[in-house]
Amino acid sequence: MAAFLQIPDNEKGHDLDLFCIPKHYEEDLDKVMIPHGLIMDRTERLARNIIKDMGGHHIVALCVLKGGYKFFADLLDYIKALNRNSDKSVPLTVDFIRLKSYCNDESTHCVKVIGGDELSSLSGKNVLIVEDIVETGRTMQTLLSLLSGYNPKMVKVVSLLVKRTSRSSGYRPDYIGFEIPDIFLVGYALDYNEYFRDLSHICILNENGKQKYKV
Ligand code: IMP
Ligand code: MG
Repeated sequence: MAAFLQIPDNEKGHDLDLFCIPKHYEEDLDKVMIPHGLIMDRTERLARNIIKDMGGHHIVALCVLKGGYKFFADLLDYIKALNRNSDKSVPLTVDFIRLKSYCNDESTHCVKVIGGDELSSLSGKNVLIVEDIVETGRTMQTLLSLLSGYNPKMVKVVSLLVKRTSRSSGYRPDYIGFEIPDIFLVGYALDYNEYFRDLSHICILNENGKQKYKV
C-alpha cells in the first residue's frame, strides 16, 4: 500500500497568526492544516518515488484541473530537478483534463468532463494522473474508466490528499501525499466555489467562509 503522511483526526491545525494569510481570507479560515513548506517537502519525496517506479519510460503527466494545478506544477518541478541531476532521466510531456463534481462543500454524484486535451493522445503511453484530493473516489474512478477506453500502456495516480471518510468507495491512489481527517480543506489550488485557490497553505474553512462564498 502507498505510504503517506497521516494527519490524525484530533489534529487541530495551527493558528492563522503564525503564518502569512491573505487579508481577504483572514475571517474565513479556522486553522492552517498543512503549511506550504510541508506540502513542498512531501511533494519532493513523491517525485523521487514516482521516478523510481516509472523512470526509464516517457511519462505523460495528466493534470486534473483546476484543483490539481499547483501540485502538478510543483511535482513536475521536482521531477525536472531529478532529471537534471542524475545519470538517468525520463522525458516528460503534459496533458490537461478538466473535471467537475463539487458544489459548495459537497461531492455530487455526477462527475463531468468539462474540457481539456483529446484523451486519444494517451493511447500506448505511460500516464501519471495528478490530482489534488480523493474523497469518495468517484472522480478518479470515472476518469480511470474513461481512460481505459483509450488503451494507455500504464496508468498511475498520484493524489496530494486522501480523505479518511466513510463515504469512500475504497479506491486508493498509487501515490499519496497526506491522509487527512474528514473535513473540508481549501488552499494550494483546492477551492470552495472557486475561492481560496490563491492561498498557499492548506487550511480549514470556517462557517463564515462557507456562508460568504456559498452559491
Ligand atoms: P471525489 O470524487 O469524492 O473523490 O472528490 C474528488 C474531488 O472533489 C476533488 O478532485 C476535489 O475537486 C473535490 N474535493 C473533495 N474534497 C474536497 C475538499 O476538502 N476541498 C476542496 N475540494 C474537495
Ligand atoms: Mg480535483
